[in-house]
Amino acid sequence: GKGAAMVTAVAYRLATQHAERQRILDALRLSREQLMEVKIRMGNEMNRGLAKESHDQAAVKMLPTYVRSTPDGTERGDFLALDLGGTNFRVLLVRVRSGKKRSVEMHNKIYTIPQEAIQGTGEELFDHIVHCIADFLEYMGMKGASLPLGFTFSFPCHQNRLDQGILLKWTKGFKATGCEGEDVVTLLKDAIHRREEFDLDVVAVVNDTVGTMMTCGYEDPLCEVGLIVGTGTNACYMEEMQNVELVDGDEGRMCVNMEWGAFGDHGELDDFCTDFDRAVDDRSTNPGKQRYEKMISGMYLGEIVRNVLLEFTAKGLLFRGKLSERLKTRGIFETKFLSQIESDRLALRQVRSILQHLGLTSSTCDDSILVKEVCSVVARRAAQLCGAGLAAVVDKIRQNRNLDKLKITVGVDGTLYKLHPHFSSIMHETVRDLSPLCEVTFLQSEDGSGKGAALITAVACRIRDAGQH
Ligand code: GLC
Repeated sequence: GKGAAMVTAVAYRLATQHAERQRILDALRLSREQLMEVKIRMGNEMNRGLAKESHDQAAVKMLPTYVRSTPDGTERGDFLALDLGGTNFRVLLVRVRSGKKRSVEMHNKIYTIPQEAIQGTGEELFDHIVHCIADFLEYMGMKGASLPLGFTFSFPCHQNRLDQGILLKWTKGFKATGCEGEDVVTLLKDAIHRREEFDLDVVAVVNDTVGTMMTCGYEDPLCEVGLIVGTGTNACYMEEMQNVELVDGDEGRMCVNMEWGAFGDHGELDDFCTDFDRAVDDRSTNPGKQRYEKMISGMYLGEIVRNVLLEFTAKGLLFRGKLSERLKTRGIFETKFLSQIESDRLALRQVRSILQHLGLTSSTCDDSILVKEVCSVVARRAAQLCGAGLAAVVDKIRQNRNLDKLKITVGVDGTLYKLHPHFSSIMHETVRDLSPLCEVTFLQSEDGSGKGAALITAVACRIRDAGQH
C-alpha cells in the first residue's frame, strides 16, 4: 500500500544520502598501495635533498644540523634554552649533571607571543623574545648571569655551523617581516644589544626534531630519529656523512633536519590531495608550501574537517543543510576538539555538546555521528601519511647500514601525537606495515625541545672548552 511505498522512499533516500557521504569521504581514504607510493616518493625526495646537484630543486631540503652524535651521558653544566615555534614560547634554565648522578633538571616559564609580534616586524618579534629572557632571568634571580644558550628555533634554517641558522622561510603561520634570509642568531643578538642590559652566549641553533631526538637519545642510545607531530610536523635522523653532500667530509654521521613538511610542494602529493586540502592551502599564510604538513599537523586538521563539513552541509547532508556563520569561520575547530570528539569514552551526546560549544547548535544525533566520522577519517589519513613518511626514513637508515633488520627508536613529541586518542597507534601500525624489516620503538619525549637544546649546547661547550685547554 501507500505506507510501504513511503517507507521504501525514505529508505531509498537514506541509502542515497549514505552513499553520497561515503563517496565524499572516500576521497580522504588511502589504500595500502597509495601509502606505499607515498613512502617511495618520500625516499626519492630524501635522496634528491641530500645530493648537491639536485638539492636546490628538491622539495624536502634535508638540512645539515652540525649535530654529529647523540648524547653519551658526559654532558654537564647550566644552560639557558629558548623554545620558539611550537604551541608556546618558553625560556628554560637547564641543569645537566653527568656521571653516576646524571640527570637533567629544568625550570621554565611559558610566554605568549602576541599576534602582532608573530605578524609584525622581525625587530618587534625579537625585542619581545629578549624581553621574555630578561623577565625570566629576573624571575630566576639570575640577572646579569651569562650562561651558554641553546636556541630551539623550529623553522627551516640553513646552517653552516652549529651556532648559526639562516631562516629559509617561515612556516606555521609566522610571518614577521625582515627575517627570511637572515641569521636568527644575529637577529637575537641585535635585539639583546638594543636592550643594553645583558649579553648572551648563543652556542647552538636547534630544530625541535633534533632536540627531541637528543632528549630521547639520552635515555635510549638506539634513538636516532626525532619526530614532531604538533602544530607542524617534521622529522630528523642520523645520516651517513658521505650522503650529506652539502657538508665536506665522509666520516661518521650527522643529524639531518628533513623539513619533510614541504614534501608535496613540487606536486609529489597531487594525486592524493582533495578539494578540501586545496581549500585549506589556498587560505593559508603560505599557499603552495608545506603541503604534507597541511595534511598531517594540528594547525590544519581542524580546517580540513571544517571544509568537509561545509561541503556536507551545502549538499544538505548535515545540519539540515543550514550553513551557519560559525561553520563559515576559519579556525573554529582547534585540534583539541578533534581529540575530544574522537575520544572513545565520549558518548554521542557529549559530541553534540562539543558541537554546541562550537556554536553548531542545530545538530541532531545523526549529525554528531557524521561529524565524528569525518574527524576520524581526516585523522586516520594524517596518521597514515605520517607513518608512510617515517617508513621511508627508517628504511633508508637500514639500507645505509646494509642491514637485513634494523632495530631503532624514534623519539616523538607534539600535541597531536600525544593527545589524540588514535593518531599514534595508527601511525605505528602504518610504519610496521610499510617497513617490515625495521623494528621500530617509539619513545615520547618529555619536554624534548628545551632539554635537547641544552644537551646539544653542553656537548658543544665541552668540545669548545677542550679545544681551549
Ligand atoms: C614546521 C617547521 C619545522 C618544525 C616543525 C615542527 O614544519 O618548518 O622546522 O620542525 O614545524 O614544529
